Amino acid sequence: MKPTNLPFTGPAFLAPMEGVTESCFRDLVLRRNAADRLGGAFTEFARVVAVRLPRKTIQSHLGPERHTAPVGLQLMGQREEMLAESARLAEEMGVPLVDLNFGCPAKGALRSCAGAALLDDPRRMEELVRACVDAVESIPVTAKIRAGGEDDSNLEEIACAVEAGGASLLTVHCRTREERYRGNGDWERLRRAVAAVDIPVCGNGGIESHADIERMISETGCRYVMVGRAALADPWIFSGKRASREEALSFLLDYADLLTERDGSTPMKVSGRLKQLIRHWRAGGLFDGEREWWLGQRDPQLLLGKLQAMSRRPAKP
Ligand SMILES: Cc1cc2nc3c(=O)[nH]c(=O)nc-3n(C[C@H](O)[C@H](O)[C@H](O)COP(=O)(O)O)c2cc1C
Repeated sequence: MKPTNLPFTGPAFLAPMEGVTESCFRDLVLRRNAADRLGGAFTEFARVVAVRLPRKTIQSHLGPERHTAPVGLQLMGQREEMLAESARLAEEMGVPLVDLNFGCPAKGALRSCAGAALLDDPRRMEELVRACVDAVESIPVTAKIRAGGEDDSNLEEIACAVEAGGASLLTVHCRTREERYRGNGDWERLRRAVAAVDIPVCGNGGIESHADIERMISETGCRYVMVGRAALADPWIFSGKRASREEALSFLLDYADLLTERDGSTPMKVSGRLKQLIRHWRAGGLFDGEREWWLGQRDPQLLLGKLQAMSRRPAKP
């Protein structure tokens, strides 16, 4: 058995969300929550296809900042040699843990038999986990599953396959592939996963408030909780702090600045990213009653200018 010490610093994690939790957003969330509450985060999935992930791709997923709480690199693919080599390189580059994605229901993932397609083939999942566990020296390999494909009837089998492959942590998104992102999620499925395996389980799906984090732990027996869309509504959800209007504005303006300075994003791209957050955003009561105006705004300068004008922060020259 390899050492399986988990590097997390607290009980709640920021979920990987492709197109949203790139390094700029993630760093701002990690900076604003104490590490004993937000105990870890994950990159968006990095798709591993015909070749090992290039260093550049791993670097760009991780971003330039390091925090007390670890950020795991999430890999998605179905070619075991390439996943294993990517995991090995990631460890060499200082990544604190590697997570395998068995939950993505997007057409591209399903067509290439990766992500949530693998939920129908637990033996294959086990082989992929084992290949990565065998490839790394000492970092943990973790896996994120859904409660099932068409239905939840083989949840225990999937969970046990991940454990048998040698994963150190099992994250369970409590919706099935068929359910995609609908509904609140059935937490009874998390209890079933906790009962099925001996490794720690991280529960995911349907967290809406800070209080829900503790509730999920006490009602299901999960050791950890992963928060997805509710963190886009309120990046302070992990600490439970009620952000003021100014603090909420400051987050969004910092996000626009980081996207521009770090990624070289155009105003159009920045405003697209901001709208993705505005769709969910609740912190500071910023968009209450006016969300439609913000989401319908096509002129990026107008959107950014209005955000700036709402804040007391002086505009950048
Ligand atoms: C826009 C979006 C992108 C996502 N991308 C990923 C991803 O890259 N990897 C992954 O494992 N899950 C991904 N997910 C799923 C989330 O990590 C999480 O499992 C799901 O949103 C359920 O949690 P929630 O109910 O708290 O939102 C994504 C979800 C959303 C909404």
